[in-house]
Amino acid sequence: MKRWPFLLLALAVIGCGPAGPEPNNNLAPTPPMGWNSWNKFACNINEKLIREIADAMVTTGMKDAGYQYVIIDDCWQLPRRENGHLMADPDSFPGGIKALADYVHAKGLKLGLYSDRGLRTCQNKAGSHDHETTDAQDFAAWGVDYVKYDNCNPAFLSNQEADFRRMRECLNNCGRPIVFSICCWGFGDWMPAVGDLWRTTGDITDKWGRMVELIDTNEQYANLSAPSHWNDPDMLEIGNGGMTDVEYRSQFSLWAIMAAPLIAGNDLRQMSKATLETLTNKEVIAVDQDPLGAQGTMVESSDKDLLVYAKNLKDAGQKAVVLFNRTDSGSPMTVHWGKIGLAPGTAQVRDLWAHKELGKFKDSYKVYVPSHATVLVKVTTLN
Ligand code: GLA
Repeated sequence: MKRWPFLLLALAVIGCGPAGPEPNNNLAPTPPMGWNSWNKFACNINEKLIREIADAMVTTGMKDAGYQYVIIDDCWQLPRRENGHLMADPDSFPGGIKALADYVHAKGLKLGLYSDRGLRTCQNKAGSHDHETTDAQDFAAWGVDYVKYDNCNPAFLSNQEADFRRMRECLNNCGRPIVFSICCWGFGDWMPAVGDLWRTTGDITDKWGRMVELIDTNEQYANLSAPSHWNDPDMLEIGNGGMTDVEYRSQFSLWAIMAAPLIAGNDLRQMSKATLETLTNKEVIAVDQDPLGAQGTMVESSDKDLLVYAKNLKDAGQKAVVLFNRTDSGSPMTVHWGKIGLAPGTAQVRDLWAHKELGKFKDSYKVYVPSHATVLVKVTTLN
């Protein structure tokens, strides 16, 4: 039995032609930023929606803020054709994926597409099992730049790692750089060698409690974070209505401090001012996109729900800090320089949400944080 994975792996590599570059060839030097159809639209997707989302990404300023990938999740497919190829559902995507990719590319954006390692996707559409070579070549020919690869309905006796490695190899050999997003709803040791990003958690829902759970799970793998090696605690729910604007801002602060992929999941065509401001705050995005690629971790807590997170930045004299109040009442919170890797002494503190210098502070910074809110500051040592 134990030989199965190796046999499958060997067959996979042969099936995909000569070995290409090593996986993880730095296709995602900073956490991917974009939009995905699933959280808001689930299976109610079509090419008009995807075009309008691409338009909105440009006109709202999301593109200028760094959002790049327009990702079509599950439900774009018909059952696999007799000739072995996947095809987009002509009712919802009459122009096909290639035309959509051309449209998205003409806007200076990139296209992402969903498939699954199993026989069927999570919505029972055609999966890529046993068709990895054909699918990777088709995705490349259509102009796909990013593949999200899911974990539903695996074939009998198939091996999860071998299935994902096979698709990675096929994508490597398809002649087009394609970011590989692993979606297995939990971490596996093999993932950093195979994907550019990997889900560390089950699915997010548009609820405060669930969002907070994902932060705790994702934190366990912080030491793995690096360029093209991103822990993915799932997509953003900002603007979908199940949380308050304060809570959505907390999701964005935490995703930024965790160097998580920033994949918006709301309707970009009709956003409130607060939603747009949250999604496009450039100083907060810069924390997420810092080229060092470190993931911030929890460094001090005065209560199990009053948590301070710090993230190393490329400039060693600077740290990004989130003070996160998970309790049901407002509270003062303090970050101490000693806890974030800075020497005691004076440091400059800048409020990144407000784009405002707060002044010089000795050894620590104390601030009132409302319930469920975050304060996000940059601390620069002056020693
Ligand atoms: C799984 C994934 C989700 C989404 C759906 C689509 O649940 O984790 O992100 O892609 O499948 O069916």
